[in-house]
Amino acid sequence: MDKLSVIGLGKLGACSAACFASKGFEVIGVDINKQFVDAINNDCAPVYEPRLQELINLSKGKLSATQDYERAIRETEITFLIVPTPSRHDGHFSDKFLKDVLKHLSDALKKINKKYHLFVITSTVSPGTTEENLIPLIEHHSEKKLNKDFGVCYNPEFIALGNVITDSLNPDMVLIGESNKFAGNKLEEIYKVVCENDPYIARMSIISAEITKISLNSYITMKVSFANTLANICEAISNANIDDITKALGADKRISPYYLKGGLSYGGPCFPRDNRAFAAFAQRYGVDAKLAKTTDEVNKFQINHLVDLVLKNIPNNESVISVLGLAYKPNTPVIEESPAIKLTEELLRKGLKIIVYDPLAMDNVRSHFGDTVLYASSVKDCFNNASLCIITTQADEFKDIDESCVINNSTTIIDCWRILHPEKFNDKVKYIALGKAIRLGEQ
Ligand SMILES: NC(=O)c1ccc[n+]([C@@H]2O[C@H](COP(=O)([O-])OP(=O)(O)OC[C@H]3O[C@@H](n4cnc5c(N)ncnc54)[C@H](O)[C@@H]3O)[C@@H](O)[C@H]2O)c1
Repeated sequence: MDKLSVIGLGKLGACSAACFASKGFEVIGVDINKQFVDAINNDCAPVYEPRLQELINLSKGKLSATQDYERAIRETEITFLIVPTPSRHDGHFSDKFLKDVLKHLSDALKKINKKYHLFVITSTVSPGTTEENLIPLIEHHSEKKLNKDFGVCYNPEFIALGNVITDSLNPDMVLIGESNKFAGNKLEEIYKVVCENDPYIARMSIISAEITKISLNSYITMKVSFANTLANICEAISNANIDDITKALGADKRISPYYLKGGLSYGGPCFPRDNRAFAAFAQRYGVDAKLAKTTDEVNKFQINHLVDLVLKNIPNNESVISVLGLAYKPNTPVIEESPAIKLTEELLRKGLKIIVYDPLAMDNVRSHFGDTVLYASSVKDCFNNASLCIITTQADEFKDIDESCVINNSTTIIDCWRILHPEKFNDKVKYIALGKAIRLGEQ
């Protein structure tokens, strides 16, 4: 079995390293963050992600970490690069961290006498980056030749935070952009061991794989925005039910049911910026990606739409509002581009007092908002202290909300994903669901 190294032990890298190690590969992780390196060496997950700790426990003796890039070249055959590629102002991804890492690795490759090394770029990059910037940099610093002394693959992941391990072990598709067949074959062999299903392995040129990666996410955001627009329309029509409609639409194979629910905006570290990067990439080639740009506008509009709904439904003389769910989705502490964070910021700007609660994201929320908001310790705490409560994620803990949580004499609930059962509430509750015209308990 090839020995593998993974550079970047963050939200995605730690999970990839643990997946490889749990399938028997010897894996060396490299990170500039000493805490993450120490965590791995103490068999602890450096970041929160469901099942990550379980896989690290399964990988004892196979997974170690270091801050020394040279070990990755000296002791392993294949190196995965999973470091941040932050968005630039023009929408393209910065390849600054990838270049930093590749300089170190290429210097090591120059020094160390070995027959071949495979570099696998997993970070999301703007199309063109690998062949225009990264491969020339490796050749320059290592003084070695592509496809003779080293190979390069572009191999992004299509995982969802909160489900990274399961998605990585059971992907619909493994995308491999390859500098030549030998490089692609080597990488495919790894996935044959790691995947627990039998996914489609899509092999192609590096540039095609780079385009595929951002096209896929841009397409999904378009689908989400379509469903959100449908939900807005349904709100204006009594008897129209968004969930019945999207279920039927999704049953058609040409559409499929995923990411077609209708509710709040998409957010997180990938969708918003991948969609903008798609538009920036199109523009570079003289194409106006109107669909991607409009998708972004629709997504921003969804927040304003919710803010309007909240403002229209604030009970008389009431200025405390509770936001339940601050992460951009359930099962993750990540608040990057979270619609609930944007909602809270907007409501704070309107002068309202906000009390917030999230099952996993409270530390991140505290660092973001400091003392500008109030912090609840439970769902009940939210309902005790506010008479308008907004449920923004489909967290399991929120699905159990029923009449026993409602203490105030009149409480308004805005349920962004229709996860509650309005029939469980008596008429002191005004229940509003995005996507539905139902207004139970309305006076
Ligand atoms: N998180 C996701 O959902 C997701 C999904 C698909 C793709 N991606 C892509 O994967 C890449 C990584 O994302 P992430 O979410 O894991 O980021 P992250 O910020 O959680 O982790 C990145 C890690 O890289 C480390 N790092 C930074 N510079 C380094 C360097 N010079 N040398 C060694 N380590 C370094 C950081 O310390 C950190 O631990 C990005 O390009 C992202 O777009 C992420």
